[in-house]
Amino acid sequence: MIQGLIITDIAGFTAGGAILELSYLIAALLFVTGLKLLSHPESARRGNLWAFGGMALAMLTTLILHRNPEGNGIPLANVWVILAAVGVGAAIGWIIARRVKMTAMPQLVSFYNATGGAASALVALLEYPNAVAGDVQSILVTVLGLIIGSVAFSGSMIAYGKLDGKVGDIMKPFMTYINLFLMVLTLALGAYIVTSPLPPAELTWAIYALLFLSLLYGVLFVMPIGGADMPVVISLLNALTGIAAAMAGFIYSNQAMILGGILVGAAGMILTVLMCKAMNRSLINVIVGAFGGSAASVGGEQGTVKEITLSDAAVLMSYSQRIVIIPGYGLAVAQAQHIAQELDELLESKGVSVRYAIHPVAGRMPGHMNVLLAEADVPYEKLVEMDDINPDMPNVDVAIVVGANDVVNPAAYNDPGSPIYGMPIIDAHLAKNIIIMKRGMGKGYAGIENALFFNDKTRMLFGDAKSSIQKLVAEIKSM
Ligand code: TAP
Repeated sequence: MIQGLIITDIAGFTAGGAILELSYLIAALLFVTGLKLLSHPESARRGNLWAFGGMALAMLTTLILHRNPEGNGIPLANVWVILAAVGVGAAIGWIIARRVKMTAMPQLVSFYNATGGAASALVALLEYPNAVAGDVQSILVTVLGLIIGSVAFSGSMIAYGKLDGKVGDIMKPFMTYINLFLMVLTLALGAYIVTSPLPPAELTWAIYALLFLSLLYGVLFVMPIGGADMPVVISLLNALTGIAAAMAGFIYSNQAMILGGILVGAAGMILTVLMCKAMNRSLINVIVGAFGGSAASVGGEQGTVKEITLSDAAVLMSYSQRIVIIPGYGLAVAQAQHIAQELDELLESKGVSVRYAIHPVAGRMPGHMNVLLAEADVPYEKLVEMDDINPDMPNVDVAIVVGANDVVNPAAYNDPGSPIYGMPIIDAHLAKNIIIMKRGMGKGYAGIENALFFNDKTRMLFGDAKSSIQKLVAEIKSM
């Protein structure tokens, strides 16, 4: 029945083939539109649906219209197996995505990324025996697909383990040399396979050795990378998965896979570069620098901290004109976004202007704060990017830091020995008053002391962010 759908004209031109190519073009347009819409929180949901539509279209038309060189379509039995696999995969993905907590999102992204890398590597592994000896071009994309897909798979699994606290850091400086050696060995073996005149059947040992080396490289490449650098690495691995998928697309000469893979690869690379910029680091420095995120501990006690009572905080906020809330990872942990929005509304009703200062790497994933605050229906125009809010910070009456630490740490400006030195921060220290809400004197992701807590203008409101803001709201209402 499926084969019956193919329409062939006299010149041998298949209308089915043309429709298939056209559907891939439409799918590509849907992907690009989806990506564009994903770049703003207001349109992100729609962006996801557009990209989903593109993928669904490409899959559907491939199933119906794909023909092998002999002109045969996909056997019906295979179509059912494919549909069953898609159904099971989609159901598992749907259940996991619904259950995952917002704070565990980076782990989930890593895990999905690993499956993408594994799929591309498997395509390469299974298609290699069908390659023709001497066909350098097709063997090259197969070998690249295998290497990149395997590195993306094992690297992402290690990243998943590290983010989930199941795998620790190895920070040995000699790891850089081992990794360099392993990379050269892997590329050399890959080059040997591509240039060898031997038929694939005689190079089975080499292709499995290449798989092993690539998997090992993925593990050892991610192991020494420090906690705070993980998002950059995840984004890089995501880009690699996209490139591996594009290689798989070349193996099958499938435009939709090539385009989709390239888009993921390019978007991942752009995000990687932007995150490096936000942390003021180079990519090479992230990869070989072994920046000691969770393990580093720099700076000692820097004086005494002053606390603020709930009633003093309530009075200070109610009689202010301009307030900026600076959310961080602790807001996500406490799930304080809804109550923060309530506090914001309450203060606005008293004539106070309230805005939110968004640091690009606040929290644990790109856009973490935007997603949380959007969930609490905070209007998007109230979320102000770091570069836009910083010039206005000296005019702010109270900066309320909610569970943020590293992103407001002035050591980034004035302590050349600090691991975050050079990272752009939100200039909370320039506000007229600073209230910091956190549970105690716990450190942030970079594991370092924060001089802002000891600033003369700073007062600490200790406690879980959600319960502190709840009490504050009650206090302001009772005034
Ligand atoms: P952090 O520097 O990690 O600080 C979070 C603070 O929240 C901690 O000091 C903690 O102090 C406090 N906290 C934890 N639970 C809390 C709760 N229930 N109530 C109130 N406070 C709570 O956060 P940040 O300022 O958002 O900085 C993010 C850091 O993570 C940066 O170093 C960044 O490079 C890194 N990073 C970012 C990403 C992305 S892409 N966003 C991904 C991974 C890592 P107490 O324990 O004293 O409460």
